[in-house]
Amino acid sequence: MTLRLLEPDLEGTIAFLGGIYSNHVALRAAAEDARRRGAKRLFCLGDLGGFGPNPGKVLPLLDEFGVRTLAGNYDVSLAEKRPDCGCGYTHPSDNHFAQLSYDYTHRRTTDPERARLGKLPGSIRFTRGGRRFLLCHGSPRKINEFLWESGCSDAFLTRLLREAEADTVLCAHTGIHWARRVPGGGLVVNAGAIGRPANDGAPRIWYALFEAGEEEPRFVPVTYDHESLAREMEEESLPAEFVETIRTGWWTTCLEILPAKERARGKY
Ligand SMILES: [Fe+2]
Repeated sequence: MTLRLLEPDLEGTIAFLGGIYSNHVALRAAAEDARRRGAKRLFCLGDLGGFGPNPGKVLPLLDEFGVRTLAGNYDVSLAEKRPDCGCGYTHPSDNHFAQLSYDYTHRRTTDPERARLGKLPGSIRFTRGGRRFLLCHGSPRKINEFLWESGCSDAFLTRLLREAEADTVLCAHTGIHWARRVPGGGLVVNAGAIGRPANDGAPRIWYALFEAGEEEPRFVPVTYDHESLAREMEEESLPAEFVETIRTGWWTTCLEILPAKERARGKY
């Protein structure tokens, strides 16, 4: 299902938040930061749960900040009570940690929350400055496709934009942000994630912002009280590997899916 916004053209500053992964502390910090910068609209590109503690804290915050949200693979899996997150990992180690995270989140998700997750649209379309924007989770063609910067040629992205009938595509799912304008003017932006750091050795998280009148996105770093989240994860007996990532900024799990170039930037 695609949600088409009724506004004829979305002007002003708008913010895009990638996967939340139950990081409610970072969600509040990022939403407040975006509001401070004048964002009139906030969008979330899906994956509300996973990795972090107490998933029930996320939906109320999205409501509080009026964040328009689409469905990620995690949200679909929880809504439909599927046995796994459907992240699309292939390595046993990645799947092991993904399952620990999913089983915890599954147990902590109520039926009313599942019903809400089940109503999230698969994509959102609007125009801005006459350009056709398409928001999706993985890619326009698949909810759990990983669009890594190193794995996407200009020709591939151009085809993706053409087939999606969009001038600008916003996606997430991978957890690492990047943006590229392809020859001809099309733009693809992976907003990354606000739920865990970008595997760059710092505990801050990032979101994508289009400022009023700007056609180029900028990525905004947000420092937040990551220590309070880390302690909450420990109280919930979540894996120590997950907690380490929140404290250090280095990914320790679900790494095998990374292409060589992205992997080489990390510590592990
Ligand atoms: Fe995802």
